[in-house]
Amino acid sequence: MEREISGEILNIPEHVAVIMDGNGRWAKKRHLPRNFGHSEGAKAIERACENADELGIKYLTVYAFSTENWKRSVEEVTGIMNIFRKYLVDSIERSNRENMRVRIIGKREGLPEDIIEKMRNLENATAGNTGLQFTVAINYGGRDELTRAVKKIADKYKKNELELDDITEALISKNLDTWELPEPDLLIRTSGELRTSNFLPWQIAYTEFYFTDILWPDFDMENFIAAIRYYNKRERRFGGVR
Ligand code: IPE
Ligand code: IPE
Ligand code: MG
Repeated sequence: MEREISGEILNIPEHVAVIMDGNGRWAKKRHLPRNFGHSEGAKAIERACENADELGIKYLTVYAFSTENWKRSVEEVTGIMNIFRKYLVDSIERSNRENMRVRIIGKREGLPEDIIEKMRNLENATAGNTGLQFTVAINYGGRDELTRAVKKIADKYKKNELELDDITEALISKNLDTWELPEPDLLIRTSGELRTSNFLPWQIAYTEFYFTDILWPDFDMENFIAAIRYYNKRERRFGGVR
């Protein structure tokens, strides 16, 4: 979709995925505890949703907590879980005001019961919203997601609900947590790391990557537009020739 943004015509990606990295370094630079960075990071998520909506992006998917992030200190993990608790509750009213639908992907198992409950409430409360389709990856790991998908498929095969030839790429996609979402057109990673850290490995096979040194709590509209400008310069061939 083309859109004029302050006099500039931009081709807006339908689905943008973001690895929100750099909260810890943002806090460290200010001699603050890491969890301050995570609180600022949560504010940056709200801003990113507003900006995505204003830019005409239909799907925004963000990586908030990985299956590997449990390796961090109890203090940091507890702080992050408390931020989720507040975010999941506060988001209901805000999302409904903005017609935003929120989905949560990742492994529910291993998360505190009350957080699972709050996730369900937020998803149910916003299920009818047709504006920005916002997805948060919490306790998400791409390998874990694929492992769970393989188990679901194997179970159906065992029960004779599937034949071997029914196992196609489309069937695998339909058994992932992202089954309702199109594949990301653009992946943004902040904070200067050049890796994907187990985020959406199946789904980003043909996604364009944009890396920026900006730390996540600082990510603003200007940075968002810079990412889209970069995306506009890429020629997507999907294996073909142009
Ligand atoms: C990203 O910021 C947020 C999470 C992974 C929860 P980090 O906490 O990884 O920040 P850095 O990479 O240490 O700066
Ligand atoms: C990726 O960031 C996970 C999230 C943004 C939630 P990390 O900071 O955990 O990734 P690594 O350790 O740099 O690969
Ligand atoms: Mg990091």
